[in-house]
Amino acid sequence: MPRCFGALDTVVVMTKSDKLPRHVAVIMDGNGRWAKARMLRRIVGHRKGVETVRVIVEECSRLGIGYLTLYAFSAENWSRPKTEVHALMALLKKYIRMEVPRMQQNNIRFNVIGAREELPPDVRQVVSDAIAVTSGNTGMTLTLALSYGSRQEILRACRCIAADVTSGRITPEGVTEEGFARYLYTDGMPDPDLLIRTSGETRISNFLLWQLAYTELYFTEVNWPDFTAQELHKALADFHRRERRFGLTSDQLKEG
Ligand code: FPP
Repeated sequence: MPRCFGALDTVVVMTKSDKLPRHVAVIMDGNGRWAKARMLRRIVGHRKGVETVRVIVEECSRLGIGYLTLYAFSAENWSRPKTEVHALMALLKKYIRMEVPRMQQNNIRFNVIGAREELPPDVRQVVSDAIAVTSGNTGMTLTLALSYGSRQEILRACRCIAADVTSGRITPEGVTEEGFARYLYTDGMPDPDLLIRTSGETRISNFLLWQLAYTELYFTEVNWPDFTAQELHKALADFHRRERRFGLTSDQLKEG
């Protein structure tokens, strides 16, 4: 049964058969502001944010979205106050550990992109375990971007390519767009079709800069802790209305 949600002036209904993005990426922003508006500590906003993660993961999986990628901790987030970094690491560890049984139940494959080597050893362990346990699942791929920065990812790819050229494994001419993408953390994943950013900010913030080349962008004022399944459906309905031309004209698309 499709779920119906009554938005202010419209009813948004998405079903499994609707034209869905294959890959949805999300910049989950506004946890701190959500907490501040309620005179609560920032960590309370992050905890509420984890509840939203659960709801959105479940809904994307139920709808049949193939890939969901969540920006959970950026390379730049290490510079936040130590207490907040510590609390976020603890939350991530708890979330991943607790969600593995549900991922198994929902056939979800868990994945991480980013500088995993920079994560604390206990978080690294939980991440490796979750990836291993869910590796045989064939439903949605849930990717958390952890200690992730897109410029860093691109630089890392360039260094690896330079090393491979030096050692003669590849030639400079052999570095094609597809070949370059294979050196990124997202190797094997399709580029995002839809990027959602919550909290009213309209920036990309060093997230998937290469991969977002033709992605549809959706910005909402809603803070991440208040982002519901209904808000997700609004974003999907908006995506549904977009014409993706990939540099071609409308007429060419109709002919093709
Ligand atoms: C941005 O809000 C959010 C983050 C930096 C972290 C996102 C983390 C979570 C949603 C919780 C943990 C995630 C998982 C997957 C378990 P902000 O703190 O920058 O908010 P602000 O801009 O209002 O201060």
